[in-house]
Amino acid sequence: MNLNHIYQGDCVDVMRTFPEGVIDLTVTSPPYDNLRTYKGYDFNFEETAKELYRVTKDGGVMVWVVADATIKGSETGTSFRQALYFKEIGFNLHDTMIYQKNNCPFPETNRYYPMFEYMFVFSKGKPKTVNLIADKPNKRYGGKVVSSTQRLPDGKTVKVSANKTGPTRTVKKYGVRGNVWQYSPGYNKSTKDKYAYKHPAMFPEQLAQDHILSWSNPGDIVLDPMCGSGTTCKMAKLNGRNYIGIDIAEEYVEMARRRVGEVRDERDKVSGIPAGSEGRLEVVELARIERK
Ligand SMILES: C[S@@+](CC[C@H](N)C(=O)[O-])C[C@H]1O[C@@H](n2cnc3c(N)ncnc32)[C@H](O)[C@@H]1O
Repeated sequence: MNLNHIYQGDCVDVMRTFPEGVIDLTVTSPPYDNLRTYKGYDFNFEETAKELYRVTKDGGVMVWVVADATIKGSETGTSFRQALYFKEIGFNLHDTMIYQKNNCPFPETNRYYPMFEYMFVFSKGKPKTVNLIADKPNKRYGGKVVSSTQRLPDGKTVKVSANKTGPTRTVKKYGVRGNVWQYSPGYNKSTKDKYAYKHPAMFPEQLAQDHILSWSNPGDIVLDPMCGSGTTCKMAKLNGRNYIGIDIAEEYVEMARRRVGEVRDERDKVSGIPAGSEGRLEVVELARIERK
């Protein structure tokens, strides 16, 4: 298995050459139903899912970004079927997250504008790395949190202390964000790499980066088995992770190799991420805030 390499080939064939339990994090997005043709290539979902499970480390995370086509007036439901299959083969469905788009280029006239895709976050057992991003400004910054109430299964409420270590705490400037993430995809927004827009379905760099920061640490191995223009690989490299990309189409592999080859350690080259933004990224201990 070659680290920091983009493979050309079918993702199942390539992953079969990898040892078991080596990948810390996968961030990927498959072809959605038959919405795009990707030069005529397709993938075997069930075999891909099984290989992803096999190569993931215990505690590793696999993020699957997907949406449904609407055929003859009905959404296909492929996203849900895939999510349930991942659970069937052993993955834990850690979080069903939403990628909300700030724009909708081709709205239909008989339903509300489709504004989101799913980001299913799976883990192999309990996730070993959780660095929740805290960038939501707290309105009550500087104030005191004394206690709050929690509802018990029987409907009664009890008062809970604001902090395990003491009865009060000060509200921080930023709180942990929710699981609906908003991005503006589209030309000059998803990336500044203009040539990458030849790929028909690139996801925003910021989306890949947010997952990489959340579910991996520097030095970890990040995989994208259908890497397209190489967004996940580029963002993994920019953030000090090792990357492995796979795509079946030669043209996209060339593009992905060019993108990772151009990465320098300049965060302000990345679309939407202002230089020095690390200051806003506060890692919160999993134990304190893990949702039950
Ligand atoms: C939704 S796109 C991924 C886009 C990528 N996230 C990006 O930001 O550019 C899906 C990709 O899967 C690739 N693909 C399709 N079948 C494949 C297979 N069997 N093995 C590997 N890649 C495949 C397509 O060539 C396409 O680039």
